[in-house]
Order: sequence, then structure tokens, then C-alpha cells
Amino acid sequence: MLKNVPFDRLASYKKLKSHHKSISQKNLRSLFEEDPDRHRKFSIRFGDILLDYSKNRITTRTRSYLVQLAEEAGLSDAIEQMFTGEKINATEGRSVLHVALRNRSNESILSDGKDVMPEVNEVLAKMKEFSGKIRSGSWKGYSGKEITDLVNIGIGGSDLGPVMVTEALKAYSKPGLNVHFVSNVDATHIAETVKSLNPETTLFMIASKTFTTQETMANAHSARKWFLDKAVDKEHVKKHFVAISTNQSEVEKFGIDPDNMFVFWDWVGGRYSLWSAIGLSIACFIGFQNFEQLLAGAHDMDKHFRTTKFERNIPVILALLGIWYNDFYDAQTQAILPYDQYMHRFAAYFQQGDMESNGKSTGRDGKPVDYQTGPVIWGEPGTNGQHAFYQLIHQGTKLIPCDFIAPAISHNQLGDHHKMLLSNFFAQTEALMNGKTEEEVRAELETSGKSKEEIDFLVPFKMFSGNRPTNSILVKKITPKVLGSLIAMYEHKIFVQGIIWNIFSFDQWGVELGKQLANKIYPELQNDWPVTNHDSSTNGLINQYKRWR
Ligand code: F6P
Repeated sequence: MLKNVPFDRLASYKKLKSHHKSISQKNLRSLFEEDPDRHRKFSIRFGDILLDYSKNRITTRTRSYLVQLAEEAGLSDAIEQMFTGEKINATEGRSVLHVALRNRSNESILSDGKDVMPEVNEVLAKMKEFSGKIRSGSWKGYSGKEITDLVNIGIGGSDLGPVMVTEALKAYSKPGLNVHFVSNVDATHIAETVKSLNPETTLFMIASKTFTTQETMANAHSARKWFLDKAVDKEHVKKHFVAISTNQSEVEKFGIDPDNMFVFWDWVGGRYSLWSAIGLSIACFIGFQNFEQLLAGAHDMDKHFRTTKFERNIPVILALLGIWYNDFYDAQTQAILPYDQYMHRFAAYFQQGDMESNGKSTGRDGKPVDYQTGPVIWGEPGTNGQHAFYQLIHQGTKLIPCDFIAPAISHNQLGDHHKMLLSNFFAQTEALMNGKTEEEVRAELETSGKSKEEIDFLVPFKMFSGNRPTNSILVKKITPKVLGSLIAMYEHKIFVQGIIWNIFSFDQWGVELGKQLANKIYPELQNDWPVTNHDSSTNGLINQYKRWR
């Protein structure tokens, strides 16, 4: 069982509160002036990843208080409980074992007293065989043609991970094999996706842990209808539909051959499932060896997380910094800003990963928490974001801690593009830290030949307060292995924060409400009678919809 003490009752919470009062007088510029060695003191190297967290409003004392917080919250014990299959997802009575899916050491991991590794390896072997057949062209469609297009139909955790990873690792894909993703129940998504596809060369992967999710099942049925309109014979479904699920009976009911089913288990959370059979589209797109490298990178990060002392532990440090701003500086959001176009869905992926995990207001003691928990996660790739929302990060009224991520080596060595990209990456965190003082602005305007009146008018608008915190995560190259480590790094960051905030990070009851309510209204839309059983707003909207449709 996880320890159960509200975060604000931990002894170091009070220490941090008073420490915050004294340190909030200091700014980052002065911290760097006072200690030129900050980069060395506040950075961690892990293989091809360098985390520099020196541009944060912390001193070594802040770090040691934050580490104490993690210790008092029982983090070491919680980590062990996760890795050893304890049922730490208590509200669903489940172990949390995504770490087993990438356990390349193959040491046994127990859930309910049973070693899960043999089953994990069996599914991986089946994924290897299948992806090999698709990529080599030996898997033929009903008319004897090779598969050229894979369509993953899933939503949430059964979609976002494969979307994000196939985009991030597009450089490793095989020409002639395309992957598409359909998630939204809006017919536009499936209709637009199949428009340019040929049923003879298309294979659908129906990815759903429960195999009951409304959106996924609606899209799966429409896909089958589209396929049968041309293929006609239901026997052909076998060669064009596979299922990824924990629910065999529903898969069979849908008509998918059990041989074409890739299983996973209830101890894999949807938003932590890309490492499981849910990653089948990834394995087909980048090849199984690369998929294994993704798992290996995550496994390396798992070992680092499990065995490294907290001061040098990347996920722990990131989590503590997040808590520092979230709970002591009242920051509401956290931006993730990859300077890598391939990583354009990375922030969206962790929007689910983080917000579905830590968007909770009930403590593990069953009582409402009276402190802030999970932040709003958002972000877009640089440099696009710079021309959209960076104005607010630099000069707005809100404090927005940012993670900047960039590879030193691009997959596309084209002229000087990458040097330009990286000069922006370095410049932004420097500018956010230093800001621009009145003297600097005046000197700049004088050099540009402005009059005194113009300068007096412009100065307040051109000043930057700076002191805006950032982490820089510089990696050598976005390889499958590095990406695996980065994803696992954020997963564990989320875990640490959930443990300290004393919440359950692995359920998602909030999402269930929306599902239930939509299922209640759906039958009411089947006829043209006006509805009267909701509040006046909902009745009004539904009735107008009925008049217009
Ligand atoms: O969004 C809620 C959720 O339950 C996620 O946790 C999950 O990833 C998604 O729905 C899809 O669920 P399933 O894989 O069962 O279709």
C-alpha cells in the first residue's frame, strides 16, 4: 500500500514555504552572477541526454528541501511497489506495470503472484512476426497484393502514443508503407482517411483496451463497412483487420480472427500502453528492431529511476521542480517545447499522460486535497511557438515553467537550418532567464538613434523582467532509444508528482462521466421529439439541433 499523508502535512512542506519567501526575492540573473558554477551543479548527464536545470529559481538548499519532501512522501518505497507489481492503482485494484513491457533484463516481475514476463515476451514475438510480414510484403491482402497502408483505429492512450512515436521517428520508416490514425468519432476523421486508400492494400488495427469505447467501435464498424463494400466476402476481413485489446470476447464478437488478436493486460494503463501491443503500428512503421530500441531506451531510464539517488535522478528532479512552481509559485501550467519538428505531437501526448494521471482533487485518504495538483500541460514545437505564444511567456503576467528539448544532430542536414534552430533553442532560455533591464533597453535605443522622448516612451514596453524558469533537455539525436528514455522520463516524473501530492495517478474516473452522459443523450437524438428532461440550456441546445439537422 502507498503511504497516505497529504502533501501539505509533510514536514518539509513548511520548510519549503518559508524558504520560498526568502528565495523569491532573488532572481536568476543574480543567482548566476553569484555562482558561475551553476551549470555543473544543476545538470545531469544520462547517456545521450543532458538535463540542465540550472535556470530554475533554486539553490542547493531548495534542492535538498525538495528531496526531503520526496523522501517524506515515501517515494523510494512507492517506486519499489510499482516495480514489484503491488496494486498501487488502488481504486481499480490493479498493478501498474508498464515497466514490465520494456523490461529488457527479462527478470521476473510478479502481478497477482504470477510472473508477467513470459506473456510479455510471447506478445512481443507475435508482434515481431507480424510486423516482419507486413514490412517484407509476405502478408497479402485478399486480392494477393501487399499492404501499403495501415490504419490504427483507437482513441486516447490507444492512439496518442502511436501517433506521437510514429511522427517522432518518421526518419526510421520504410518507404511505401504508410500509417494513418483515426480517433475522433466525428465521421470526418474516418471518411477523410479512407478517401485515398484502396481496401485491397489497407490493413486496419483496432486498438482498444476495453473494446467497448464508443468512438473506436463506431469507427471500426464504419471501416469494416467501407472495406466490405469492395471486398464483399466477410472471409476477407481476416486479412485486413487485427485487434489489439484485453477483451477477447468483444474482439470475437466484432468478427476478428482470434489469431489476429494481440493481447495486453489490465495492469497496463491506456496512457502508458505504447510499449505494449498498442505499439504494433509503431513496430510495423519503424521496424521491430527499432521498436526494441525504443523499449531499451525506456528500460535504461527505468533503471536510472529505480536506482539513482534523488539528487541525481532525472525524473525525480523534474517532478520536484514542477511541484516547486505548481505549489509554491502558483504556476498553473507547464509548457513542453521540443525544438524538433518530428516531435510535434510530444506535448499533446503528455497532455493526456500528465493531465489524465494527475488531474485529481481527491487525496489517497479519500478527502479533497487543499493544494494544487496536476498542471495544465501544453506546447508546440519551436520555432513555431516563438511566433505564437512566447510573447506571453516572456512578458505576460503568468509564470510558465518551460521544458525546452532539442537534438544536437538533425535527421535532415540541410544547409544551416539546424544551427539556426539551435541558436533559437539556446537564445530563448537565456533571454527568459536574463530578461532585459532598463539600462540595456536605453542603450539599445540610443544606438538605434531614437530621440530622448521616444526612448522614455518605449522603455517600459521593451523591458523584460526575466527570471522565468526553464529546463533544457539537450539530446544527441532523436533515435528510438533516446525517445524511449525521454518518454519514460516524463512518465516517471508524473508518477513522482502523484506520489507526493498523495493522489492516485493511474485511474481516470473523470473521463468516465463524459462517456456515461453521452451514452444517455445518444438515444434521445434518435427521434425528432423535443426533450424536456435536462436543464434549460441543454434542452434548448438539443432542441435547436433537432430543428436544424
Ligand atoms: O480517455 C479515457 C480512456 O479510458 C483512456 O484512459 C484510454 O486510453 C482511452 O479512454 C481509450 O480506451 P480504450 O483503449 O479502452 O478504447
